[in-house]
Amino acid sequence: MYFLKKQVYVFITTLFLFANIQAETVAILEHEDRFHPVVGYGGMVVSQEQVASRVGAEILRKGGNAIDAAVATGFALAVTMPEAGNLGGGGFMLIHLAEENRTLAIDYRETAPAAAHRDFFINSAGEADTRLSRFSSLASAVPGTVAGLVHAQKRYGRLSLPEVMAPAIELAANGISVTHILALSLQRAEQRLKNHPASAAYFFNKDGTLFQPGTRWKQPDLAATLKRIAKTGGDDFYEGKTAAMIVAEMERSGGAVTLQDLRNYRAVEREAVRGRYRDFEVASMPPPSSGGVHLIQMLNILEGWDLAALGHNSAAYLHRLAETMRVAYADRSEYLGDPDFIEVPTAELMDKNYAQTRRSAIVLERATPSAQVAPGLELVPESPQTTHYSTWDEEGNVVSNTYTLNFSYGNGISVSGAGFLLNNEMDDFSAKVGAANAYGLIGNDANAIAANKRPLSSMTPLILFRDGVPVMVTGSPGGSRIITAVLQMVLNVVDFDMNIAEATAAPRVHHQWLPDVLQVERGISRDTLDILTAMGHKVEFTPWSVGKTQTISRRGPLFYGSTDYRWPGGGAVPVKP
Ligand code: DON
Repeated sequence: MYFLKKQVYVFITTLFLFANIQAETVAILEHEDRFHPVVGYGGMVVSQEQVASRVGAEILRKGGNAIDAAVATGFALAVTMPEAGNLGGGGFMLIHLAEENRTLAIDYRETAPAAAHRDFFINSAGEADTRLSRFSSLASAVPGTVAGLVHAQKRYGRLSLPEVMAPAIELAANGISVTHILALSLQRAEQRLKNHPASAAYFFNKDGTLFQPGTRWKQPDLAATLKRIAKTGGDDFYEGKTAAMIVAEMERSGGAVTLQDLRNYRAVEREAVRGRYRDFEVASMPPPSSGGVHLIQMLNILEGWDLAALGHNSAAYLHRLAETMRVAYADRSEYLGDPDFIEVPTAELMDKNYAQTRRSAIVLERATPSAQVAPGLELVPESPQTTHYSTWDEEGNVVSNTYTLNFSYGNGISVSGAGFLLNNEMDDFSAKVGAANAYGLIGNDANAIAANKRPLSSMTPLILFRDGVPVMVTGSPGGSRIITAVLQMVLNVVDFDMNIAEATAAPRVHHQWLPDVLQVERGISRDTLDILTAMGHKVEFTPWSVGKTQTISRRGPLFYGSTDYRWPGGGAVPVKP
C-alpha cells in the first residue's frame, strides 16, 4: 500500500514539475486559461483588415516567405482599406531573416519635393498654415510605398512580384464587399473626399450616395495601376504612365511633386536600432522614425524599477510610465529628424547611463510639470490613420510593417485615372519652430522642412527577441501614440506576464510632454485616476484609442495572432488553423 502511495506521489510530483517547466518556457506566450489570441500553425498574418490578412496567409500557403506575404498584404490593404493602406504614402518595414539571423529596416518614408523649403507653409502673418500642410496638394510628399514594397520583394521575397500582387489586382478588378467599418469610415471622410472630383468619383456611388455595407465595390483604375506596377517592377509608378498621372494631378491641384522628384525617389535600407530590456532584446525603426529610439530610451528608464511589483495599471506604475513618456517626448522635440540631413544623437538617447540620469530626476511622489522638463542631452553643438501588419513564416522570417498616408485618406486627393489617394505627410515636418503638428507634436530645427528631406515619424514597427530568437512582432497606427502603444505591449508581455491578446486588450495611457496631459483609455479604475490627479497629473479620457496593435508571437510550431479590437474588422489568419 505504502509503495503504491509513493508511486502515485512520484507520478504527481513529476507531472507538476513538468507543468512548471512548461509554464516557464511559455510564460510570455500562452496561458490557456486566459483571454486568448488566435492560434494556428505554419505561419501567421495579422492586419487591420481581414481580407488582406487572408491574402497574406494564402501567399504563405503557396510557398511564399514572410516578406512575400508582407508585400502581398501591403498591396491588398491599398485596395481593401483605402483610408490607410496605400500606394500614395510611405512607411517602414522591419525584416528579420532567419537563415542569416539578421534584422534590417527598409525606410520608404516619403520625401519632401525639391521645391519645398523651410517656410513652405508659413503664411503672410508668419504663421504655419495648417490648411496647406494638411488638406492641400502641397501637403503631399513624394510617395515611397511602391518603392519600399518592391524593394523588399525583389531582394528578400521568394515568389515573383506579379505573383504577390495578383490578389490585390484581383480584389481591385473584381471588387470587394464593402464592410461596415469601410462604409462608416467613408461616411466620416465624405466632406473631405468630395472636395476633390477624382476622390468623389472613386469613393461614392455614381449619384454621390454613400456605399452601403455589402455593396460590391470595384476599383478598375486602381487595378490598372497595380497591373502596371507588377509588370514594370515598380518603374511605372516613378517614371511611367502612373508617374505622368501623378504629375498631371499635381499640376491640376497645385501640388509640388514633379517627375524629377518621382525619378529621384529611393527606398533605403538602414540598420535597425537595437536595445536590451531585462531578458529580452528589441529591434525597431531608426530615424527618420523617432519610434525605435524613444521606445528603447523609455525601456531603459523603466528598467530601473520593479514594475511587476507595482502592479499593472496601478497609480504607482502609471506615474512612472507617464513621467518616462514626458522625458522621451521632450527629447524627441529637439533631437529627432532625418539622419540624412541632421546628426541625430541616436546612441546618446539610447544610452543606459543617460536613462539613469533621466530616471533619477523623476520625482516619484508627484507629477513634474512639462514646463520643468526639457530635452536633456548635453551635446557638443554640431553642425488619425496609419496601419500596421505583421507576418511570420514557418522558417522564422518575420516582417513588421507600418505604413501610412498620415491622416485617414491622406489629404483626400486622388490621382485621377490612377485610382489611389495621396498622402499629407508634409504636416509631419515642423512647419515652424514650436508649432505643433496635427498630433500636437512640437518640433525644432532638426525636423524643419527641406527639399528631399524625410519628415520625422513616430511609426514603431517592432520585433522582440529572447536569446536572439524572435518571440513577438508588433506595431501600431496612432500618430504620436504609436510609440507609447508599442511600449505598453512590450511592458505587458515582459513585466506583467500577459499573452499577446491580454496585452492588446489592457487599457493604455499616453503622455507626450506637450500638451501636459495624461491621456487614458477607459478601463482604468476611478480610484487609480484619482490618485494620479492628486499627484498632479492632468488626467483626461482620450477620445481616440492609444494605438491599434497588430501582433504575432510564436512558440515552437504554434503561432499566436492578435488583432486589436479598438478597430473592428481586423484579422489574425494562420496558415493552418
Ligand atoms: O509618421 C507618423 O508618425 C504619422 N504620419 C503617423 C500617422 C498616424 O499614425 C495616423 N493614424 N492613426
